[in-house]
Amino acid sequence: MNRVCEHLGSKYPIVQAPMGWIARSQLASAVCEAGGMGIIETSSGETEACQAEIRKMQEITDKPFGVNLPILFLREKAILDFVCESGVRFVTTSAGSPKKFIGPLKEAGITVYHAVPTVDAAVKCEEAGVDGLVVEGAEGGGFKNPEEVSTLVLLQAIRAKVDIPLIAAGGITDGKGMAAAFALGAEGVQMGTRFVSAAESPVHANYKKAIIEANEAGTWVLNKKASPCIRALKTERTAKIHEDGLMPADTFANILDLYFGGDMEASVGLAGQSVGLIDEIKPVQQIIDETVAEFFEITSRMGACAENKNFG
Ligand SMILES: Cc1cc2nc3c(=O)[nH]c(=O)nc-3n(C[C@H](O)[C@H](O)[C@H](O)COP(=O)(O)O)c2cc1C
Repeated sequence: MNRVCEHLGSKYPIVQAPMGWIARSQLASAVCEAGGMGIIETSSGETEACQAEIRKMQEITDKPFGVNLPILFLREKAILDFVCESGVRFVTTSAGSPKKFIGPLKEAGITVYHAVPTVDAAVKCEEAGVDGLVVEGAEGGGFKNPEEVSTLVLLQAIRAKVDIPLIAAGGITDGKGMAAAFALGAEGVQMGTRFVSAAESPVHANYKKAIIEANEAGTWVLNKKASPCIRALKTERTAKIHEDGLMPADTFANILDLYFGGDMEASVGLAGQSVGLIDEIKPVQQIIDETVAEFFEITSRMGACAENKNFG
């Protein structure tokens, strides 16, 4: 039995990434209904809105879903208490040490995975008692570790050092990426950029179009010498940040004008290198069905190689 499926309670070990403002009930419920694991974000810091989204999920889907708690950015303990009492069974923690949060979450019977960008962090999290890890390679969109270790290397390096189940994140959009991640030791995958561009994603059409039009070199890693280091779409604004090497403090002030107003120069459009693999807006159901079908097609071809002792 796949340990990630057992932990998630979903049909498939395919997780929709937490993403501030974007990972809310409209997208997450579509993922859950399609057999994946929808995650509700709390990184927006909008505690009441996020609580309402969690309640809404419980009304609109009877499938399991999860919540993300970005430790460094949690302004209010209220969201932790709310999640512990909400009946939610799966939480991913990110950005910071999960140590303080594990106690209350486990007491509430919640399965906890922590997102890690290094082997060191993975080992520490396993010692701290998390149930699993989300392994975040440098290809992925969003906040990044400036060391930039790829998913290909990071997964293998972490698999060699820890025993708990791994969900691979960064650069995965389909069954090819999923099969590759499983070959390297993952038991599940998480997709961010692919779901930002899904039909049910709430973001403006301009953001989806920018993802579809970008090629594999269509993103920058920015602000490497400060915090947060991010991966975002190439635009005039991000070209300037790239050139300067530093991101102005107010960069995220107008993020909603980009996400929902469609002004791609208003802020930074977080996205991964996987933009180069996405060329169509698809409904969530189609993304997940195609991913699963392709995963089984590839693994059956690989299985035949092993059986026939040839290389296909
Ligand atoms: C638009 C966007 C917003 C994100 N926001 C968050 C966040 O709030 N919390 C978090 O843990 N990760 C966040 N991430 C990172 C994702 O969780 C995930 O690791 C990443 O998207 C995986 O790589 P991919 O984009 O190639 O699928 C974000 C990613 C994107 C693209």
